[in-house]
Amino acid sequence: MIYIKTAQQIEKIRKSGQIASQALDMVSQHLQPGVTTQHLNQLIHEFIISKKAKPATLGYIGSSGSVPFPASCCISINEVICHGIPGERQLKDGDLVTIDVTTILDGYYGDTCRTFLVGNASKTAKKLTAVTEESLRRAIAEVKDGVRLGDIGYAIQSYVEAEGFSVVRYYVGHGVGLKFHEEPSVCHFGKKGRGIRIKSGMVFTIEPMINEGVYELKILEDGWTAVTADKKLSAQFEHTMAVTHSGADILTLS
Ligand code: MF3
Ligand code: CO
Ligand code: CO
Repeated sequence: MIYIKTAQQIEKIRKSGQIASQALDMVSQHLQPGVTTQHLNQLIHEFIISKKAKPATLGYIGSSGSVPFPASCCISINEVICHGIPGERQLKDGDLVTIDVTTILDGYYGDTCRTFLVGNASKTAKKLTAVTEESLRRAIAEVKDGVRLGDIGYAIQSYVEAEGFSVVRYYVGHGVGLKFHEEPSVCHFGKKGRGIRIKSGMVFTIEPMINEGVYELKILEDGWTAVTADKKLSAQFEHTMAVTHSGADILTLS
């Protein structure tokens, strides 16, 4: 079942989403070589709590019945596609770092991520990051009452593949707001004119994970960390948005 949110619910999701986005703004000032990912996690945790919100990922149990996620954000470096667990690893010059924050405020969820580059990144890392961000922008530009989900996936896939990169299939965007993961699944690949029509009041994420090489992945022993099968780079950007008659209302802006 896909929830249609009221205007009041959408404003609550926006308030939550703004905190998640502000957490990313804040942490972006701390991405220096030598900083550990657990320190970044601590900064994000404290920021969220200071805004009277809660980190949705902390203790989150995925659908696979896996171990609870142990941190307040996901930090995914280089070949890690998503769900990287913060720890003792230090950032180094040239790293590609994706930080994903999901907040709960007054029961409402906001979910957003960005990829950052530390210091002097390679040409490929820069291009992958730029193409991934642009793919999200193009997808959001499609969003409007009556559009089909396949049109959104197509906008991402056609652009990304023309740039020589690949779209991860295994993870998708999702309805969000009253729960962390709701229907529908929002694929980042697809065919024009296929899939359900989105409607005003639906709230979902679009969060393309784009790989330098193949789209296949492997999940590590920890049950969470997803890495590219060929160990090449992966980048991701995510926004939570509400569908309106005139377009997307992005709820995870700072
Ligand atoms: N924030 C991720 C998403 O965009 C989900 C993270 S679940 C976690 O859907 F458990 F890994 F944190
Ligand atoms: Co999400
Ligand atoms: Co997310």
